[in-house]
Amino acid sequence: MKVTVVGAGAVGASCAEYIAIKDFASEVVLLDIKEGVAEGKAMDLMQTASLNGFDTRITGTTNDYSKTAGSDIAVITSGIPRKPGMTREELIGINAGIVKDVSSNLLKHSPDAIIIVVSNPMDTMTYLVHKTTDIPKNRIIGMGGALDSARFKYRLAEALEAPISDVDGMVIGGHSDTGMLPLTRLATRNSVPVSEFISEERLEQVKEDTKVGGATLTKLLGTSAWYAPGAAVSGLVQAIACDQKKIFPCSTMLDGEYGMSDICIGVPVVLGKNGIEKIVEIELDQSEKEKLKESAEGVSKTNGLLEL
Ligand code: 2OP
Repeated sequence: MKVTVVGAGAVGASCAEYIAIKDFASEVVLLDIKEGVAEGKAMDLMQTASLNGFDTRITGTTNDYSKTAGSDIAVITSGIPRKPGMTREELIGINAGIVKDVSSNLLKHSPDAIIIVVSNPMDTMTYLVHKTTDIPKNRIIGMGGALDSARFKYRLAEALEAPISDVDGMVIGGHSDTGMLPLTRLATRNSVPVSEFISEERLEQVKEDTKVGGATLTKLLGTSAWYAPGAAVSGLVQAIACDQKKIFPCSTMLDGEYGMSDICIGVPVVLGKNGIEKIVEIELDQSEKEKLKESAEGVSKTNGLLEL
């Protein structure tokens, strides 16, 4: 199993590290346009192999896509991250050109790769890859919901004063501060609805804290987060590489599901060796349906800024 991670910034490097630590891939190639950065990070990570006990071989390359040839999975993290006060949508101008070039270069050398898009605004970048490549929709996956759901579980566990492993929950919708839809109604603590333990007001607070999870970190760090995004990507990569058939909310092209078409937005999907193997349509209540529709309107508006 060969995995390429394009962009050796903080998210790309964390993603490579988590993939390596889980030790299911034979090879991870890190690629970056900045001279020496991918090679340096790959070498640094390889020097953790004996300490962390993994055999995955990590190599780095400065923009030489021939080194990525034959990748089974390719992750696109390239582009600029947001700065404090910025929305993910404001990155579209620069990142669209980058994501278009990167996906085309990747597919020249790995025509069968499954592509995971991380660059922001992620739902629109996922849509862009659909519109500018001719690979089937099961092989284009946007990573946002897995990260947002991890942030939701963190906030839920905090509110419940419970261990995170006792908590389950999912965030669907667009990967944006206003578009995320944390499904509090379906969240559970060891199969018991969380509403049995905390007030509606506290749950509303959990929801709001989840939605600004990325923005809160960007304010603290001066740039966007990397550990949780890297770990979330590694979870998707592992589900595909190991054909786990796990459910994650991912951005995927909808074709009638949830009453929408021609849009990439976060909904639950089954991930296995073919990428997105199934879109899972869960029964949403009226208010959730309305919020998902509003979220989709926001994503469509950003899609409208693309020059296709
Ligand atoms: C985040 O939410 C990188 O969009 C990503 O941290």
